[in-house]
Amino acid sequence: MLRRTIKNGLKPSIIRFCASTAGSASKPMKKIVDANETTATGQYINQVSKPYTVTTYARPNLVLTHGKGSYIYDLENRKYIDFTAGIAVTCLGHSNEDISSIISDQSKKLIHCSNLYYNLPAGELVSKIINKTKESGGLHNASRVFLCNSGTEANEAAMKFARKYAKQQNPNKIEFITFENSFHGRSLGALSLTPNEKYQKPFSPLIPGVHIAKPNDIESVKSLISKDKTCGVIIEPIQGEGGVNTIDSNFLIELRKLCDENNVILIYDEIQCGLGRTGKLWAHSYLPKEGHPDIVTMAKALGNGFPIGATMITDKIESQLQVGDHGTTYGGNPLGSRIGSYVIDTISDTEFLNEVNEKSTKFINKLTEIANENNDKILKIKGKGLLLGIQFKSEVDINKIVENCRQYGLLIITAGMNTIRLVPALNIGNDAINEGLEILEQSIKEYK
Ligand SMILES: Cc1ncc(COP(=O)(O)O)c(C=O)c1O
Repeated sequence: MLRRTIKNGLKPSIIRFCASTAGSASKPMKKIVDANETTATGQYINQVSKPYTVTTYARPNLVLTHGKGSYIYDLENRKYIDFTAGIAVTCLGHSNEDISSIISDQSKKLIHCSNLYYNLPAGELVSKIINKTKESGGLHNASRVFLCNSGTEANEAAMKFARKYAKQQNPNKIEFITFENSFHGRSLGALSLTPNEKYQKPFSPLIPGVHIAKPNDIESVKSLISKDKTCGVIIEPIQGEGGVNTIDSNFLIELRKLCDENNVILIYDEIQCGLGRTGKLWAHSYLPKEGHPDIVTMAKALGNGFPIGATMITDKIESQLQVGDHGTTYGGNPLGSRIGSYVIDTISDTEFLNEVNEKSTKFINKLTEIANENNDKILKIKGKGLLLGIQFKSEVDINKIVENCRQYGLLIITAGMNTIRLVPALNIGNDAINEGLEILEQSIKEYK
C-alpha cells in the first residue's frame, strides 16, 4: 500500500530508496537525527501525505514501514524499540506470525457478510469473551457481547444500553456521571463523557446531562448521582490517557453500591487497561464481585491492530434490549472475530499472564531506580502490569524526553498529568526491555 502510494506520488529516486531498504534491518543507531525535507521521509510527508490528510495529530518526521515483535522500522530503515504498541494495541507484537496466518486463511474463506446472517467466528469470539471473563474472576454475571470496530463505538453502545435500561423506568433518567482525567473516545457521545476542554470545546454542544466527579472521592459522586435522573456512571479502572491513574479498589466497590442504591448502570471502560495489560485478563478481575460493573467495554488489544471493539453486558441489560435497538455493518465480521478469538485465547492463558507480571516487575524495579536517581525531575512511578507511567514535576518538558528517546531509538508516549506512558507489547522480550529502559534512563539523565 505504502509502496504503491509512493510510486504514484514520488520521484524515481525515492522509489529506488524504498526498494533498496525494504525487508532489511540495520542495527539501531546511537543517535538518530529526525529526517529532514530532502530525505525520502521528508518528501513522502510533504508531497504525498500531509497535503491530503485531515489535520489531527502533531507527528514527528517519522514514517513507519514495518515491525517485528517489539521492534519497528522507519522509511530510512532505522530500528526503534517500541514501548507504545500503537497505544496499547499490538499486545502480541508486530507481524505476529500466527495472526498473519489467521488473516490469510480467513481472508480466503469469508471476510465480511454483515449481521443480517450468523457467521462462525463471531459466535466463537463472544462465547470465549464471556467464558474467559468468568474464569479470570472478571464480570461474574457476564451474559452477552456486542461486537463493533473501535473503542469509541464500544462506549457508544454502552451509553445507549444504559439509556435504554434506565428509560424503561423513567423517561427522564438519561444523565451520565464521568470522572476528571478520563478518556472515553472521540465520537460525540463518548466525547461527551471525556471531560477535556481541548477535545470537547470545538465540537460543543455535546450531549446534555453529563456530570464530572472526582476519582477516588465517593462523596463527589454522591453529590451528583440521582435515582430519577442518572442512567449511567462510566470509569476506567486505570485511567490511561489521563495519566496512568489507578482507581482504588475500595472506591470501585463503594461506587458499585451507590449505583445499585440508585438503580444506575455501572460501566467499566477497559479499552486501554483490559485484556491482560494489568497482569490479569481484566483490571476489574482484581476486584471481588461486589466491585463488578454491569458493562465492560474493550477494544485496542482485542485485534492486535485489526480494528475491533466489544461491549459486554449482563442479563439485566440484555433483558431490556430488542431486535433493532442497536446495530453495525462491520462489527462481528468473520476476519476480525477470528483474530479476536486468537488474541483472547493467548492472553487469558495463566502462564502468559504470569509472564506479563514478571515483565512488569522488571520494568517497575528499573523505573523505581531511575526515579530515585532523578528525584529532582520525577515525582512517582504509577500503574500496574504493563500499563505504567512516570509522572514528572510540572517544570519538566516531557516532550523533550520523548524526542530524545526517539533519537536514541525508543518510542514512548505521553499521558496527562505530565506523565510518560509505557504500554509495550505484552510479550515483549527481555532484550527489548533492557535496551529500551537503558535509553529511557539516558534520556532522562540528559534532560536539563
Ligand atoms: C480508555 C479508552 N477508552 C476509549 C478509547 C477510544 O478508543 P478508540 O480510539 O478505539 O475509539 C480509548 C483510546 O485511547 C481509551 O484509551
